[in-house]
Amino acid sequence: MKMYRDWAGIYDALYTAQGQSKDLPLLTRLVREYGGPVLECACGTGRVMIPLAKAGFKVHGIDTSKEMLAVLEKKLRKLPGNVSKRITFERKDIRNFAMQKKFRTCIIAFNSLYHLQNDADIMKFFRHVNMHLERNGVFIIDIFDADPNYVQGRFVLQAEAVDAKGRVMRKYGKTVFGNNQVNDGWFRIVIEGRGKRRMINKKFKLRYLTHDQAWKMLDAAGFKVMKVYANYESEPYDMGRQNEKMIFVARKTGKAARKA
Ligand SMILES: C[S@@+](CC[C@H](N)C(=O)[O-])C[C@H]1O[C@@H](n2cnc3c(N)ncnc32)[C@H](O)[C@@H]1O
Repeated sequence: MKMYRDWAGIYDALYTAQGQSKDLPLLTRLVREYGGPVLECACGTGRVMIPLAKAGFKVHGIDTSKEMLAVLEKKLRKLPGNVSKRITFERKDIRNFAMQKKFRTCIIAFNSLYHLQNDADIMKFFRHVNMHLERNGVFIIDIFDADPNYVQGRFVLQAEAVDAKGRVMRKYGKTVFGNNQVNDGWFRIVIEGRGKRRMINKKFKLRYLTHDQAWKMLDAAGFKVMKVYANYESEPYDMGRQNEKMIFVARKTGKAARKA
């Protein structure tokens, strides 16, 4: 995926600084409850896979970005052999993948589902997950609960970190939620150090879902929603208010997938 090409090397530092690893305790608890092996779709640099492998689970990741996967590969080389041997990955699109293996649990973390821009792509992805889960296997989706009225029309500082070379990195973001469920986003990363200043500007689109849309598509793809959490503290999703997150936990049913 092109969007991640220029900043795969600083992704981990920036998102750890932004507090994004707050999802790990919940994801680890859910995997302990439902079991491995785990498939992580859109695994990126292995931010989620590595802690799961450290917790003792076998994890397979797929992602389209060769730069993000290169970072993962580098990280694997530095891990103890008993952890790295539990992690495998391949460069594949989550909308179209085929493996012999089946998994107990599948995860798509950190809003990555919103990179898919239409219902047809999401249904394709959900059906592929269904095919690759064992009987009664569990699918976990972590996406934000969009507030359609939210507009952050100017760049604001979202994260600041210092990398291993002592360079200061600052990530600024700007977001406008359009009326077609598309979040038009811009981010700017400024890297300063050793008298040099580099700036990365990116425009991206995330297509968000409502609670009911996601539920309906999961149902049509052969999943029964068991729980929806509103945040990483496991509070239940509340239909009557704006929630921070929609973390779906759905079980594969025996029913064949149908049209959403
Ligand atoms: C926000 S990052 C998340 C990475 C990792 N799961 C994490 O939580 O840190 C989103 C990832 O989705 C990947 N991605 C986007 N569209 C994809 C697709 N159609 N198939 C596979 N990977 C995709 C990107 O390459 C990127 O690595």
